[in-house]
Amino acid sequence: SIECNLGANCVALDKKIHDEIFESIKKLESATGEGNQYLGWLNLPKEYSKEEVQKIKNTATEIKENADILLVIGIGGSYLGARAVIESQRGVFHNEVGSTKIYFLGTSLDETYITQILEIIEDKSVYVNVISKSGTTLEPAVAFRIIKKALSEKYSEKELKKRIIATTDKEKGALKKLADEEGFSTFVVPDDIGGRYSVFTPVGLLPIAVADVDIEELLDGARQAMNDFSVGSLEDNPFYKYVAVRNALYRAGYSTEVFTNYLPSFVQFNEWLKQLFGESEGKDGKGLYPSSMTFTTDLHSLGQYIQDGKKGLLFKTELKIESSENDISVPHDNKNYDELNYIAGKSFKELNLTAQEGVYIAHDNGGVPQITISIPKNNAYYLGMLIYFFEKACAVSAYTLGVNPFNQPGVEEYKSHMFRLLGK
Ligand code: PA5
Repeated sequence: SIECNLGANCVALDKKIHDEIFESIKKLESATGEGNQYLGWLNLPKEYSKEEVQKIKNTATEIKENADILLVIGIGGSYLGARAVIESQRGVFHNEVGSTKIYFLGTSLDETYITQILEIIEDKSVYVNVISKSGTTLEPAVAFRIIKKALSEKYSEKELKKRIIATTDKEKGALKKLADEEGFSTFVVPDDIGGRYSVFTPVGLLPIAVADVDIEELLDGARQAMNDFSVGSLEDNPFYKYVAVRNALYRAGYSTEVFTNYLPSFVQFNEWLKQLFGESEGKDGKGLYPSSMTFTTDLHSLGQYIQDGKKGLLFKTELKIESSENDISVPHDNKNYDELNYIAGKSFKELNLTAQEGVYIAHDNGGVPQITISIPKNNAYYLGMLIYFFEKACAVSAYTLGVNPFNQPGVEEYKSHMFRLLGK
């Protein structure tokens, strides 16, 4: 569900905005907008192949049975979705409490990071999932070279072949060529799905399945979202409401959308959201700047700015999770020096929700527009729903701004300068 603190403005929009959004939805659903060759994600939750999901589950089982560590090599859309789902469902410390540890690399050119990964894997059983549609993206490609070299000193050619799984283009690209020549098993990144929309393809699903998150539940949630958020009555549709409010705020001069939630395990979900909206909307001099904060942590730093800083600049889009199964409460303390015995016995969940309520009131008093998106609980099903909700909201928002949601010309620009300076 969705709510906002803008009173009647939350739904009663200017007819012009309403009509433009409706046109954008039609454009998306009838595949007549720019970038319409990248709409494979739109019906994916209903059209995904059951055989492929089974193949992903079988590979995940093989990895879990044989590996201490799965290295996931990929950048941008080739890792953010998997990491977001894994951390939100398995927690920040999933590697400490889970069985097969999962490390992400190829996301930077930091030598300390990769050196430490080499130390971590030294005497461990390792599998690798290298994910790159093109196979030529610098960061994952160099990380893969380094890891492949290290593993080839440890495993026979035959063994290495079994331990490297490439997720890449169906027939073209450098990684596909290498995988075919060396005999790595492969999963396909569909032609009609771009990186940031690829979490429900093997790009996301294989690492997610290794982390023991139920991928069928995730897809079930996404399928439910497909039904719930297709065009019907727009006024009652949370997806439409979200697009409409953020668009109205943008037109009113707001420049920054701050995604907030109250769980450190959702930090990576915010990273995924920032890529989704940043790469889809930020072009032709347009777009809301996507930013994020994790509360209550950031209330002790950036919270000051939200409450009291420049007005008319940022609004909040907050995630609310209504219930939790973890049951940990505040203990009674005989000394009570911190004077907190009045909350003894209260659950952490209750404290967190009460903090969220208090912050909502404070930010409302501070004149900050707030959109609250609620899910009943944090599980794979509702996360799948949420992901699809944001994917669709983002595509429609970009069309409403008048930009192509599915390209990223600005990303290409830095690459051409970097490769030139490197002497390519
Ligand atoms: O969303 C996108 O398209 C990008 O973030 C890409 O996923 C990213 O640049 C990685 O590209 P590739 O999978 O070709 O290595």
